[in-house]
Amino acid sequence: MISKQLFRQFSQITAFNEPLKRHTTFSIGGPARVFIKPRSLAETQSVYKFCKSEGIPVYILGAGSNILINDKGINGVVIKQAGLIISRKNTIIKVSAAYPLMRLVKRAIDAGLSGLEPLAGIPGSVGGAVMMNAGGKYGEIGQVIKSVSVVNRKGETETWQKDKLKFGYRISNLNKAIIGEVVLQLKRRKTQLVKNLVSAILAEKCQTQPLRDRSAGCVFKNPASGPSAGALIDRAGLKGLAIGGAMVSHNHANFIVNTGNAKAGDVIALIDRIKEFVFKVSGIRLELEIEIW
Ligand code: EPU
Repeated sequence: MISKQLFRQFSQITAFNEPLKRHTTFSIGGPARVFIKPRSLAETQSVYKFCKSEGIPVYILGAGSNILINDKGINGVVIKQAGLIISRKNTIIKVSAAYPLMRLVKRAIDAGLSGLEPLAGIPGSVGGAVMMNAGGKYGEIGQVIKSVSVVNRKGETETWQKDKLKFGYRISNLNKAIIGEVVLQLKRRKTQLVKNLVSAILAEKCQTQPLRDRSAGCVFKNPASGPSAGALIDRAGLKGLAIGGAMVSHNHANFIVNTGNAKAGDVIALIDRIKEFVFKVSGIRLELEIEIW
């Protein structure tokens, strides 16, 4: 058991045995032995360096919207950055990792800036979105990133310019770093046009996705070619399939929703069942899009 004493120097920003279900959109997850909310990148850096020197594992949590956390919890340090900073100069926005993506999209719209519309309706934090190149069929966040400031695995701060950054389908080369601040290069466009596009994307999502339910969004990646994961699961007849409190959404088959007191174990069992069925019916092996801790 990690002692509370060890974290004396961070007492103002630290909680112990914090239930992580409070911090995930699935409302699932056991306690974090140590839960720290740094208020600045400098604070994140000192927490990270300290944990590294003590050999304590560190987990970085964003908005918890693409993650399934096990029921036993995390016997280590979970860092959830708390600094909410945003500034704009002409078409460039600088924003901290903890900033909610939806608020960022709104700020961009209000400023008459285009480029973030494809992110409308995605419930993550900026840091999480950048880490996994969040997006959808209309585009991804990676397309508008100019630079990213991080704390690297050695505990040093550095800034990665666009040429060093690599973004793919729900993946980036930032996965070993802690994202601190992101600089976005957007384009001017009439506010009304940006608003219309965002409204259209949101309306489509409301129609096709269970946005009001507790979920972690799409569970599986779409295969590189052929039918989407949602279509494959749907065709296998799995909508409504439930294990414990976890159920394949009736609305979009690539979403698993928490219908009551789902345990991580229920979701994992359901994931296995879906994979098995889809493989039997189509010969396709689905790959996870969500992260599991
Ligand atoms: N479909 C079905 N049954 C379903 C769901 C979908 O037949 O239950 C069919 C649809 O009719 C459509 C096709 O599958 O022909 C694709 O579905 P959809 O347009 O809903 O898009 P998707 O490929 O399932 C992707 C992203 C979403 C993103 C949307 C919209 C992945 C795995 N999913 O979904 O991302 O919101 O496009 O841009 O890439 C997420 O990342 O968490 C996520 C939800």
